[in-house]
Order: sequence, then C-alpha cells, then structure tokens
Amino acid sequence: MRLLRRGQLSLLLKLTVVLGSVWMLSLLSDMKTDWSLNYSWLEYTDIDGGPEKECNCSAIMRGNKAELEKAKFLTITKDFRKRVQIPDEYYINATKDCRKFKLSRKYITFPLSEEEEEFPLAYSMVVHHKVQNFERLLRAIYAPQNIYCVHVDKKTEASALAAIMAIISCFPNVFLASRPVSVVYAAWPRVQADLNCMADLYNVSTEWKYFINVCGQDFPLKTNLEIVRTLRSLKGRNSMESEKMPDGKIWRVTNAHRIVDGGIEGTGQKKTPPPFNLPILSGNAYIVVSRGYIRSVLEDERIQTLIEWAKDTYSPDEFLWATIQRMPGVPGSTRPHRKYDMTDINAIARLVKWQWHAGPDDSLDAVYPQCHGNYVRGICVYGAGDLQWMIAQHHLFANKFDINTDPIAIYCLEKYLRLKALAESY
Ligand SMILES: *[C@@H]1O[C@H](CO)[C@@H](O)[C@H](O)[C@H]1NC(C)=O
Ligand SMILES: *[C@@H]1O[C@H](CO)[C@@H](O)[C@H](O)[C@H]1NC(C)=O
Ligand SMILES: *[C@@H]1O[C@H](CO)[C@@H](O)[C@H](O)[C@H]1NC(C)=O
Ligand SMILES: *[C@@H]1O[C@H](CO)[C@@H](O)[C@H](O)[C@H]1NC(C)=O
Repeated sequence: MRLLRRGQLSLLLKLTVVLGSVWMLSLLSDMKTDWSLNYSWLEYTDIDGGPEKECNCSAIMRGNKAELEKAKFLTITKDFRKRVQIPDEYYINATKDCRKFKLSRKYITFPLSEEEEEFPLAYSMVVHHKVQNFERLLRAIYAPQNIYCVHVDKKTEASALAAIMAIISCFPNVFLASRPVSVVYAAWPRVQADLNCMADLYNVSTEWKYFINVCGQDFPLKTNLEIVRTLRSLKGRNSMESEKMPDGKIWRVTNAHRIVDGGIEGTGQKKTPPPFNLPILSGNAYIVVSRGYIRSVLEDERIQTLIEWAKDTYSPDEFLWATIQRMPGVPGSTRPHRKYDMTDINAIARLVKWQWHAGPDDSLDAVYPQCHGNYVRGICVYGAGDLQWMIAQHHLFANKFDINTDPIAIYCLEKYLRLKALAESY
C-alpha cells in the first residue's frame, strides 16, 4: 500500500512538473507497457464515495438480504437523499482544473488494453437534465480511444447545460452535438437527436467500429473490454430488438401526427403506406450497430425516403432502427422473415424491466423477476436489489437508473465494474 502511494505521488509530481504534451504521452505509454505497475489506485474507494459509502456493495452484489434492507431504508431516508444531490455549480467549479477533476474522479485516461485501443467505439448520449446521472454514466463508459457525442435537449435549463459543457470541456474526445433539437416524448425529434449525433460521429472520426446510443438514465452492465469482446464476436452484425409489430401498435404508423405545444397529437389524417412497401418492424430506441449501418442511415437513399415518411408517425424511435435492421443491403442487417425476429431479451442493446412482464421466479408468464426499485410509467427504475440479477444478463446496458430514486444501485454497480475493469487489465 505504501509503495502504491509513493508510485501515485511520483506520478502526480511528474504530471505537474512536466507539462509538455509529448512528455505526457510518452509517460502514458510507459505506464501501459510497465507490467509491474499496479492500477489499484484507480479503484473507487470509500474516500471517493458520497453518503452511499455506508453500504457494503460486495454484500449487495451478492444479494445479501440484510444489506439490501439497509440500502432500501437509506434510499427512503430524506436526509440521505438530500446529501446525495450534487448541485450543477459543483461541476462548473470542479472542472476549472480539468487535470485535477479527472484525477479526483478517477477517470481512465489511457487505454486499459491493446485490444480495446484497437476497437474504438462511438457513443451518442441523449441527455436533458440530472447532471450527476450524466457524469456518472460518462465516467463509467469513458475510455480515451472512444468518441462521445452528447446531445443536450434544447429545453435544458441553463445551469445544467453549463455544467454538462464544463464536464465535456475536460475531454478532447467528448463533444456536444452540433445541431441540438428540442426532444418531444414519442415524437420525431427523439430520433433526430440520435441522427444528428450519428452524422457528427461519422464525420469526426473514421476509426470507430461500433455505435451505441444511450440516454442519461442508462448505465453499463459490462466493462469496456467486455463490450469490445462482445461486439467483436458479432462479426459486423447489429444487435437490437426487431420483431413483428403488435396489432395494438399499428395505428402509430397509419395515422399522421404533429407536435403541438411540446406534445404529440394525431392530425386525423391517414398516412400513405411505407415507401417501397417496406415491412415496418417493432423495436426500441436503443441499438448496437456497426459503422456500416450508420453509413447506410446517413447515405442510403431508400433510408432517406423512409426517414421522411416516418417524421409524422407516433414514436418513430420504436420502429425506425428495427425496420432499417431488416432492409436488404444494410450492413449487419438480417432478412425481414419472422424467423429472424429478435426480442429485447435476445438482443444485447438494452435491459429494461417492464412492469407487465415481471413476476415471481416460478411464474411461467413472467419474463423477469419483480422490480426492486419502483416503476415509473411501467418501467422499473432499478434498486440495489436488482443488481445481482442484472449483472448475470448478457445486455451491455440497462435502463433506467436514477440517482434521485436509488443512488446505491449506481454506486455499487460502478464500483463493481471498475474493479472488474482493473482486474482484467492485469
Ligand atoms: C495491487 O496493489 C494492491 C494494494 O497494494 C494489492 O492488494 C493487489 O493485490 C495488487 N494487485 C496486483 C495484481 O498486483
Ligand atoms: C461486506 O460483505 C462481505 C460479503 O458479504 C463481507 O465479507 C465483508 O466483511 C463485509 N464488509 C464489511 C466492511 O462489513
Ligand atoms: C472549487 O474547486 C476548488 C478545487 O477545484 C476547491 O478547492 C474549492 O473549494 C471549490 N469551491 C467551491 C465553492 O466549491
Ligand atoms: C462534415 O464536416 C465537414 C467539415 O469538416 C462539413 O463541411 C460537413 O458539412 C460535415 N458533414 C456532416 C454530415 O455533418
């Protein structure tokens, strides 16, 4: 431990004394090749934690009942919930010294392996408030070889936008979407936000291999290395929910809609059938796709026509990507035949617990166990009690997390992932 501290201290000294970027780079590459270097100083410790640190995360991750009860009790304690909050101003001040911010927040600023370095990822992050959620998510998925486009809703209040911009300014590979839009629930702009980031990411770098989109309430279930290995094993294929549209959702694409006062409503008009008689498939907003898929989205003329057609539908985010995924000629796609249908459970993009699919373990109808947090609009906002089950799933990300509802779930998950990432790097 003492040795470690000394190593850390001398590194700090070197970093402060030597400001030349060339020197910094050679220092970082020394660190990578020096096998004797122990990265355990990048572990999250109790000193880094907020009030959540009174929980025993290793017991929580194992589903220990007493610890889970203690965690549950804490999350409903008013004082605890208040102490967990971090005001936007904190981030604006703390990022004035980026080097110090990244060190104190323990961002990983060098590739942990060559395998990861050679397989950069592109992220689209669509956020609108809750800066702390965003910062914790960014820290969990951040790697210097990856590239991140952050779309901040046009409606976002000034202090949150300023805080997000301040955080972003500390990272050369994280940038704001060049054309922000005002997102309306279930309407076209949600898709446009991702489209704008796709265009920016495609334009800014030719290096990245796969694209992943996330929102502020997502959190990873896997380390960057695990994500890279899973994506490599896809061998160019995409992974997302894409299945026959249920009868109850067909009205969404047969009736025209418009945005009125920040909400979506039907116009009373019928829509023409989809272009090229394309079969419209059902999916969700979150996808894991190859660079070739993104190129098609940006350049394929059939898809441009589909996009124009989709603009006045209801919740286009829940069919557009799924439909493109079944179009012939799109890289990584599959045929439209039903035998290729993929559910959200089989895809790796996103783990979501819907209220009506949850139930007891011995139920034949239940898709997954009950939510240990609370349901918001039919979706589970995870609690600490969901973690043990979640990390056993194959999905790369889960939705939804909320620091205001259960900060312990995020706290224990991020600790678990960091420990795993460091253990993998030895
Ligand atoms: C790294 O250092 C920590 C603390 O001294 C120690 O517990 C751990 O075993 C070390 N890990 C490796 C792989 O050397
Ligand atoms: C936390 O829980 C683990 C596993 O249940 C246990 O081994 C460990 O001693 C506990 N740590 C503390 C500080 O209570
Ligand atoms: C601002 O940040 C600096 C260090 O980055 C810290 O020393 C100082 O206490 C902070 N001020 C406030 C008001 O938080
Ligand atoms: C890509 O970037 C160039 C300038 O670097 C710009 O002229 C062009 O419009 C951009 N394309 C897109 C699709 O954003």
